[in-house]
Amino acid sequence: MERTELPIAVFDSGLGGISVLRALVQRLPGEDFLYFGDSANAPYGVRPAEEVRRLTQDVIARLYDRGIKAAVIACNTATSAAIGPLRAAFPDIPVIGIEPALKPAVAHHRRVLVLATPLTLREEKFAALMQQCAGCAEITPLPCPELVEFVERGELDSPALTAYLARQLGPYAGRVDAAVLGCTHFPFARRAIRAALGGGVALYDGSDGTARETLRQLVRRGWVRGGSHGTVTLENSRPSELPLSRRLLALPRED
Ligand code: DGL
Repeated sequence: MERTELPIAVFDSGLGGISVLRALVQRLPGEDFLYFGDSANAPYGVRPAEEVRRLTQDVIARLYDRGIKAAVIACNTATSAAIGPLRAAFPDIPVIGIEPALKPAVAHHRRVLVLATPLTLREEKFAALMQQCAGCAEITPLPCPELVEFVERGELDSPALTAYLARQLGPYAGRVDAAVLGCTHFPFARRAIRAALGGGVALYDGSDGTARETLRQLVRRGWVRGGSHGTVTLENSRPSELPLSRRLLALPRED
């Protein structure tokens, strides 16, 4: 099969990457997407980096063997732990990794909260990003591992989620101007996060930037498939997650 016709793989530890998949489908409507969520091993963000690297490489190797023209790592945690080794292992396809959208946030705001997994926040990649942005704003990193699990359960507006976010984010309400959703699960809890931080807070996530970068990489190679009749195939290491995956994919994108 010609390279242009092959699907684009999109990977996350679980269901969060579907927030990136929605942006990809919007920007590249002619492409076929093969989404794989590793919910059987989620959450990744509380595991050692070496384990996340191995889990991620195993999944991408299996998808690569089936025939893909690009791999999008729709997981900030897996990008932090594995993007370098992945690019070295699959040099003939673009491997695009999402990262916390800190740069656009500090370009417009003075006090910025970064919500992500513990692994993302302690990896070198984030330390380098912090260093680049530190002079521009007051940046506060905040690990929120439990929020991943709320989204994995499909709890996007339950009283338990509201109470958890009030506890975690309440102390920052009125004290920050923007929050970076540095984990791909978090955009699904956007409304609840906004309610906990107060309506005036601007929220940033990396899904559009990742979709734009994917388009750029395909254009550079002449591998874009035009038109608007692409397909989406959803797969998961825990197949019972597929109904919830379909529900999340169908949710409208919110600002
Ligand atoms: N969705 C992933 C991210 O963007 C991590 C979730 C997890 O801890 O598995 O960081």
